[in-house]
Amino acid sequence: MSQNPQNIQSVLNETRSFVPSLKATSSVPDMATYEALCAEAVRDEQGFWARLGRENLDWHKPFTQTLDESNAPFYRWYGDGLLNASYNCLDRHVLAGRGDVTAIISESDSGVVTRVTYAELLARVCQMANVLKSLGVQKSDRVIIYMPMSIEGIVAMQACARIGATHSVVFGGFSAKAIHERVIDAGAVLIITADAQTRGGKQLGLKLVVDEALALGGCDTVRHVLVNQRTEQGCDMVVGRDLALEPLLAQQSTDCVPEWVDAEHPLFVLYTSGSTGTPKGVQHSTGGYLMWATQTMKWSFDITAQDVFWCTADIGWITGHTYVCYGPLSCGATQLVFEGIPTYPDASRFWQMIERHRCSIFYTAPTAIRSLIKAADMDEQVHPKKYDLSSLRILGTVGEPINPEAWMWYHKQVGGERCPIMDTFWQTETGGHVITPLPAATPLTPGSCTLPLPGIQAAIVDETGEDVENGQGGLLVIKRPWPSMIRTIWNNPERFKAGYYPEELGGRYYLAGDGAVRHSDTTYFQIMGRIDDVLNVSGHRLGTMEIESALVAHPMVAEAAVVGKPDEVSGEAICAFVVLKSAIPEGEAAVKLANELREWVKHEIGPIAKPKDIRFGDNLPKTRSGKIMRRLLRSIAKDEAITQDTSTLENPAILDQLRTSVV
Ligand code: WT7
Repeated sequence: MSQNPQNIQSVLNETRSFVPSLKATSSVPDMATYEALCAEAVRDEQGFWARLGRENLDWHKPFTQTLDESNAPFYRWYGDGLLNASYNCLDRHVLAGRGDVTAIISESDSGVVTRVTYAELLARVCQMANVLKSLGVQKSDRVIIYMPMSIEGIVAMQACARIGATHSVVFGGFSAKAIHERVIDAGAVLIITADAQTRGGKQLGLKLVVDEALALGGCDTVRHVLVNQRTEQGCDMVVGRDLALEPLLAQQSTDCVPEWVDAEHPLFVLYTSGSTGTPKGVQHSTGGYLMWATQTMKWSFDITAQDVFWCTADIGWITGHTYVCYGPLSCGATQLVFEGIPTYPDASRFWQMIERHRCSIFYTAPTAIRSLIKAADMDEQVHPKKYDLSSLRILGTVGEPINPEAWMWYHKQVGGERCPIMDTFWQTETGGHVITPLPAATPLTPGSCTLPLPGIQAAIVDETGEDVENGQGGLLVIKRPWPSMIRTIWNNPERFKAGYYPEELGGRYYLAGDGAVRHSDTTYFQIMGRIDDVLNVSGHRLGTMEIESALVAHPMVAEAAVVGKPDEVSGEAICAFVVLKSAIPEGEAAVKLANELREWVKHEIGPIAKPKDIRFGDNLPKTRSGKIMRRLLRSIAKDEAITQDTSTLENPAILDQLRTSVV
């Protein structure tokens, strides 16, 4: 487990408690209502989920079956119902006379603000859907989206949903190789991209990365690349294959009848890192997924028509899918979308934007908070107290455990001690929040995601699937299926079954992949970090194997092992142990090679995968059977004394060499 045990202890000993400051109403549950909902979900599981399915979504044909377990763990929810996600996110609000409500306030990197209403967004999504249809994209085709955080990116996703095409968004920071892998695995027929994105005052080419991906070969399924022109930068266009998007949009009608799909129809496939080298395509449904995206916006964030909601996540991650593209729109809310970075033009950007747009619900990652604390400590002018944040009423965090000090700062300096903090635990696979406080119900403890949402049967078990007692660490599982859960891994149902419903646990519990413990008094959940070889760097999930494969692909590298080490800002930092094919360089030459390897990994995966520390060695610590002893590497990475048993080590001398060689 990646988090250090001392941190866990300090959080378990955390005695500070903050009463939920929001007023409970008929739609905002207090503790008694929360408990009643939990009880209802146990007493009448099907009735509970059926009710939420009906309350949250408009169905073209209502479902009559709620949960079908006949082919577990390939669960089906609302299986015979027909609906369309984009209809639920757009048309239903326009039809209800709310077409003039602002759907998105978009702020560009340089500060240009654009607003679209629900009626305008619907028209744009229809035009985009018609462009896709005119290019022969059909229901069930896969479309890759490689776009910046923008209205256009959201329009592209919604347009796919409208015609029943399954989108797969690739984060704009990912490399050509990452796009290539996903295009092939998904068998995509079309790629939607932009010439470039602007972040921190710099224009970063996107289309050229797509060109590079397609040049790697084997992408014969791709018929066209649609290019949204966003900057003066422009890009090369391959005649016949590449098409400028804007002229095509202008020719299309603003009406497009939605394609009614069954509830299990794959809305999207989003790739995420696992323990092995290849990313897995997490497949989500339409009905169950959208129901939970909608319901959790209401429960966790108490979203109302008066709110300005801002989730800072990029659409390339699950948070940007559920809490930017789908959840807020399905609720008919007004949200802020931001293309830039939190530190440009300076580290007050978030606070300025909250003030400027009177943001009332703000949802971000602990790593962003920690970097802004650091910046505010150094420069008064970028401290949140310099800004009017009185519009805020609820705060949220996601992606990694938040340390109590960062939590307290967020609470005091950003939330003015008035806004409850929703520490939302969930995963790409869970589709939406699963363990989180409710703003008018749950007393808050810094660093704890508190209690499962109604209907989520979260528990902590040992390696055989038996419940452990509160206060004891174990594996986080969810014992019953829920509507927004992962349906399968695209092209790999076996990997889905083996990875998430392992035989060791009896094949009946969803295994989250995190270690956790419940507090003895409060029964609150405390997440202790991943139990597999997955790192969490700035809230982004990266497989150690992925980074290792990238490193060994370099011509000079013979072997590599990657581990995480705690980092003040990014949570975890990547530490790579590298064995070269030739002698280890010294001094300047070692630094030069280490930087070359960092650039190499950046090119192979993306900038977020760049190792912070690189250590060269003649070998790696291995057992006599040749297994790399990663726990020793973790100790070395942290510069801590090795207390573990090293008697099974084939080559103990290697430890000293690795200890001193950090570059
Ligand atoms: C992993 C999932 C969920 C959207 C962003 C990340 C960690 C997530 C929390 C939290 C402690 C958290 C877990 C989880 N994680 N939220 N509130 N407290 N840890 O999605 O990339 O699928 O990563 O992020 O380790 O398994 P993801």
